[in-house]
Amino acid sequence: MGEAKYVEIAQEIESKIDIGHYAEGDKLPAHRALADELNTTPMTIAKAYGLLSEKGRIESFVGRGSFVKAKSQLKQAIQSQLDDREWNFSILQPCYAEHVETLHAHLQHSFAKLTKPALYGYIEDSGLISHKAAGMQWMHLQGVTVRSPEQVLLTNGAQHALSILIELYSKPGDYIAVDEWTYPGLLSIVSLLGRKVAGVAMDDQGMIPEALVDIYHRHKPAMVILLPSHQNPTTITLSQQRREQLAEIVQRYPLWLVEDDIYSFLNTHPTQAMTNLVPEKSFCIHSLSKAISPGLRCGYIKAPQSQIDRLSAFIRATIWLPSPLMFEVASNLIESNQAVEMAEAQRQIACRRQRVARKQFADQVFHAQDSSYHLWLQLPDGWQADSFTLTAKERGLLVSSGNYFYTGSDETSSIRLSLMAITDDAALETGLTALSSLLNAKIDKN
Ligand SMILES: Cc1ncc(COP(=O)(O)O)c(C=O)c1O
Repeated sequence: MGEAKYVEIAQEIESKIDIGHYAEGDKLPAHRALADELNTTPMTIAKAYGLLSEKGRIESFVGRGSFVKAKSQLKQAIQSQLDDREWNFSILQPCYAEHVETLHAHLQHSFAKLTKPALYGYIEDSGLISHKAAGMQWMHLQGVTVRSPEQVLLTNGAQHALSILIELYSKPGDYIAVDEWTYPGLLSIVSLLGRKVAGVAMDDQGMIPEALVDIYHRHKPAMVILLPSHQNPTTITLSQQRREQLAEIVQRYPLWLVEDDIYSFLNTHPTQAMTNLVPEKSFCIHSLSKAISPGLRCGYIKAPQSQIDRLSAFIRATIWLPSPLMFEVASNLIESNQAVEMAEAQRQIACRRQRVARKQFADQVFHAQDSSYHLWLQLPDGWQADSFTLTAKERGLLVSSGNYFYTGSDETSSIRLSLMAITDDAALETGLTALSSLLNAKIDKN
């Protein structure tokens, strides 16, 4: 029995826990019973349970059996701040300092003009063509070639777009290839829809093309999902060369590309969207959540012409359409150029905050670009991601454990730090100082 078998069984059980098939506290089948059912050995089941215990998903007791554990708080990459004495480094969102006032003023202005009856009814093709045209304008600014507004579909943010594409372009049981460190919301969709994650090895330039080919041969994934700009969590932006190498693989094999490029507005140099390289085999996702506000829930998919009807029918059948009222507001922001100005203001804040963090973490090893919203920090020797996250939380510092982003099963020792969720610059500095002293502390780390 190879190592892969027990890992597969563990993944299967983990998916069942995620979708609620096994609830918190449920007893898992005895080793022998499950081994007979799966046509394997009790030893393989013991190894699978061992792996799940290491990951904190189950607890085993001699004589009593194995039980599903409550989902650890650490698994929540995004933590809610409870009071003013906490510093939230866990949420990737725009910095709300003056931003909310600007946005509020715009909303008031826009809402006063929402008189078109069409905005209040059911709209054919799951959205107004003028809203799709504004989406096309935003995508052009992000380096995406879109030939006509009909090629754009409107969604309730990028999360919705990802879930539609995974559901429509793969089947239960299929593998989905992703970066070995990736956005947890994506991993949740894959597991919730009964697909399997194939984590593709990365180097300091992002997904390794040869590793994608290898995964293709081993698992025949239905699609590969890439986050080409300021990747969540590693902050890597794929070079033009890496984009071309990965796109060439998509062209060569029967594989869809889903490009989620919602951080592209942070790029200092204009980039070519990957979808331009393989337009007939790719979908490109954008949203206004990171540049303007997640509260708008405005997302866009640029799809190949051949797939528009299928996608529109799916959106119609599931939600009819995302709110035209919010898309009218978003379209006004884009057409008046305010969206670009607000996004640029956020980019400037990110640059300023990266400079502050660089000073505070001069002794630390981390990855970030000058304009990233976040840092990907390698913890000093002795710290594990979960133990650091818990210790930091006790001190009011909310950070995201690297384990939450990891597709593998080893313990990790990196954390993601968002520099944008704390509104006030002075509070950010105080929080960074506290984090820095914790990182340097000579304390019992386990
Ligand atoms: C890579 C990535 N994709 C999608 C999302 C979700 O975006 P939205 O709010 O538009 O659904 C996030 C949010 O953190 C993200 O980091």
